[in-house]
Amino acid sequence: MSDRRIITGLDIGTTKICTIIAEVSSDNEFEIIGIGFSPSKGLNKGIVVNIDKVSNAIRESVNKAQIMAGLEVDSAFIGIAGSHISSINNHGVVAVTGNEKEITENDISRVMEAAQIISLPAEEEIIHVIPREFIVDGYKGIKDPLGMSGVRLEVETHIVKGSSTSIQNLVKSVIRAGLEVDDIVLEPLASSKSVLTEDEKELGVILVDIGGGTTDIVVFHEGSIVATYVLPVGGNHVTHDIAIGLRTPISEAEKIKINHGTALPGESKEDKDYYIEVLSASGEEKKEIPRNLLTNVIEPRTMEMYEMINRQIYSAGPKDLTPAGVVLTGGASLLDGSALLAEEVFDLPVRLGKPDYVYGLSDVIDDPLYKNKDGKIPKAIFSTVIGLVEYGIENGTAEVKTNTTDKKEKQITESFIDKVKSWFKEFF
Ligand SMILES: Nc1ncnc2c1ncn2[C@@H]1O[C@H](COP(=O)(O)OP(=O)(O)OP(=O)(O)O)[C@@H](O)[C@H]1O
Ligand SMILES: [Mg+2]
Repeated sequence: MSDRRIITGLDIGTTKICTIIAEVSSDNEFEIIGIGFSPSKGLNKGIVVNIDKVSNAIRESVNKAQIMAGLEVDSAFIGIAGSHISSINNHGVVAVTGNEKEITENDISRVMEAAQIISLPAEEEIIHVIPREFIVDGYKGIKDPLGMSGVRLEVETHIVKGSSTSIQNLVKSVIRAGLEVDDIVLEPLASSKSVLTEDEKELGVILVDIGGGTTDIVVFHEGSIVATYVLPVGGNHVTHDIAIGLRTPISEAEKIKINHGTALPGESKEDKDYYIEVLSASGEEKKEIPRNLLTNVIEPRTMEMYEMINRQIYSAGPKDLTPAGVVLTGGASLLDGSALLAEEVFDLPVRLGKPDYVYGLSDVIDDPLYKNKDGKIPKAIFSTVIGLVEYGIENGTAEVKTNTTDKKEKQITESFIDKVKSWFKEFF
């Protein structure tokens, strides 16, 4: 019986919790063998506000994926977002040790440690330390200095940090759902793995993942991350405005947005006879309204969101450093006309991004909640979870599943897992 390398990605979003179980081949290609969705509960703007609700929703999502995959998973790579996240760039420097003056792994880990020394408030924790470039004896732009000769090794890093309480509440929710945490990954960093091309990152590009409750941004200059932001706005705010503006229940507002919504007012003026049926707030009566009333609600809110994003993009540096423009992804990027409006506001080329993978998935998931007006589940909502799997493949600590019926071997594995589980429980 062969060993199977399994990686699980768990995207705990504000609208949906999505689990993907992937089987990784020896050449690091992967195949999705299980996928599960559950409606998100207990989160507000990307932050856990009710551990029980979140862990129940996680359990539901993971169970569905496990049933599809025909196996149980013990751990997952989980995404993190929320406005408690912030980032800074830092610098580290060390002298190269050893007689040969050849840079070793030890030198690299020492310089990475040196670059982590920042004054961190007591209530914050570091989530990622991402090397942007190494500098050897003054020569910049080195991606991998291992084995190079030199006496002075420097590194420029991008450090992502977040509130300890928010991180712990997220981890607790996952553990309470019966899973261990392989690693915590910033959501836009994960999405950038599944959506951006190497060329875009080399040229300079901005990824904007607009979800339900948060908008996650990551900026690349010359192949490296220079800035990450999480803004507390997303598609749910638009839905909320529609519910108020058209006096209709939230669930109805969501359907209307997906089926008739557009961010472009010009377009709706053209089709004057476009009327839509709207359920009254009590849910008892139906009325007909012209579509431009809907557009008049959507356009200003979307514009306001894009202007907020634009201010953040500006703060990361001049726009000519990102000639590849903006890549929009996430559920709210699917709003009709979003790319055109975004181009106008950002004054940069904009394309819609989605992971290459997931073909055929809409055939296996039959959940009306996540379907678009074409009856399919859009790939753009998988950007983060597929990226989590890709991050897991690159950064290791995957599960190895042995298809064994050998009782003794099974017992050993189980007792090892119990040990790790109890360590985790002790920790929190
Ligand atoms: N066709 C569509 N047109 C407009 N909006 C859409 C469409 N499809 C989905 N959305 C919106 O996308 C949002 C959900 O996106 P997504 O699944 O990426 O969010 P999430 O990952 O759960 O949330 P977050 O990343 O904020 O935690 C919802 O606000 C939903 O209304
Ligand atoms: Mg998301």
